[in-house]
Amino acid sequence: MTPDNTVSDTTGAGRAGSHDLQDVAKRNLWLHFTRMSAYGASDVPVIVRGSGVYVYDNHGKRYLDGLSGLFVSQVGHGRTEIAEAAARQASELAYFPLWSYAHPRAVELAGRLAELTPGDLNRVFFTTSGSEAVESAWKLAKQYFKLTGQPARYKVISRDIAYHGTSMGALAVTGLADIKYPFEPMTPGGVRVPNTNFYRAPGFAAGSLEDFGTWAADEIERAILREGPESVAAVYVEPVQNSGGCFPPPPGYFERVREICTRHGVLLVSDEVICAFGRLGYYFGSSRYGYQPDIITFAKGLTSGYAPLGGMAVSDALMEPFLSGQSTFLHGVTFAGHPVSAAVALANLDIFEKEDLLGNVRANEGAFRATLEKLLDLPIVGDVRGDGYFYGIELVKDKATRETFSDDESERLLRGFLSQALFDAGLICRADDRGDPVVQLAPPLICTQEHFDEMERILREVLTEAWGRI
Ligand SMILES: Cc1ncc(COP(=O)(O)O)c(C=O)c1O
Repeated sequence: MTPDNTVSDTTGAGRAGSHDLQDVAKRNLWLHFTRMSAYGASDVPVIVRGSGVYVYDNHGKRYLDGLSGLFVSQVGHGRTEIAEAAARQASELAYFPLWSYAHPRAVELAGRLAELTPGDLNRVFFTTSGSEAVESAWKLAKQYFKLTGQPARYKVISRDIAYHGTSMGALAVTGLADIKYPFEPMTPGGVRVPNTNFYRAPGFAAGSLEDFGTWAADEIERAILREGPESVAAVYVEPVQNSGGCFPPPPGYFERVREICTRHGVLLVSDEVICAFGRLGYYFGSSRYGYQPDIITFAKGLTSGYAPLGGMAVSDALMEPFLSGQSTFLHGVTFAGHPVSAAVALANLDIFEKEDLLGNVRANEGAFRATLEKLLDLPIVGDVRGDGYFYGIELVKDKATRETFSDDESERLLRGFLSQALFDAGLICRADDRGDPVVQLAPPLICTQEHFDEMERILREVLTEAWGRI
């Protein structure tokens, strides 16, 4: 039980007053992927409101939201028209399941998404999160192959360091050993192949981007052949791999991956939990790079975070075996396609259209890149990479040799200094060392040059200080 914190104030602290919030947060709240010991002596950061590309903490301090929360807030914060759509829906029909029933907003949203997805991805299965979407795609692949006479196909191939979620199935697709180890044994079937990090390409493939892409795609085929094609159900790829710091695909890579999957009867799942809904200037990242997936998984930006919602869009061919007789996809979750979330998603997509947010990203992405590339004059900045409004900045100890930091230095640099210093300087972004140390940026799609300049200025100050501390 918590004490009764009824003190109210104007900082957005709500039932708990601003002072009590700290106490209660430290006593009762468990933050995700967070070393809670870090808050023994220091405050838990508490964000209380947002407006446009900025958010504010409980002391009234302003931060540029350079990560859209967690790759989520595409249209920015404080959009009352989305809040109103949510309120209208909650009054009309707050909840009904998609188990055997439909409700109007889920129907409308499925229809709208089917128009936006590439090719024949016309069937939408909703979830509440990205992990559920990734896991649903795997379950669908397994059941589809059982129904179509290939019951041995259950394995999934994904790329080194790729993050695909945390539930046990999604974790088996994820390529990050450190976050899997405590939960072993894993769901069987996860197979790893190289990612498209050209900055860290092995020597024999580092000569040209095209050759590197061919090699990386062919590694997928080698894995399929090694495992036995009859045992492989799906290949999971993100259009731009997030974890490791934004690896865009080399030219021709996805074309080749598509050919390989088709040749071996393996499903191509495009995990667009981050890369859909404008992050790369298109509704779907696969459209930007011109490949046709069999399944797209999505979440995050679909609602810009005004309510949780995820899902997968599936090809007509995959749906086909479920359209006759007694076949049923034996899978579902209570809150998937929640009416309020679906209404929110529709209002969010209305804003995309009204304000031409895809156009804004396409018009400004070059300027975003050019502004971030100014940082390459700093000795600590080894690489700036990404596309659209999605960038990673790799930090190195030695630019000439591309030497990275030791685990100890990384710990001191990222956890001991950078994350807090960037936050203190008013920029929310992500300092991460899931692969090599990177700072990641994925700002709301409404950002323009003034915001790019603000990000660059803060990064320059903080990275300069970080270099001085090494
Ligand atoms: C590519 C990708 N897939 C899946 C997930 C899992 O999504 P969620 O956190 O909504 O479960 C994420 C989350 O960041 C992601 O980036």
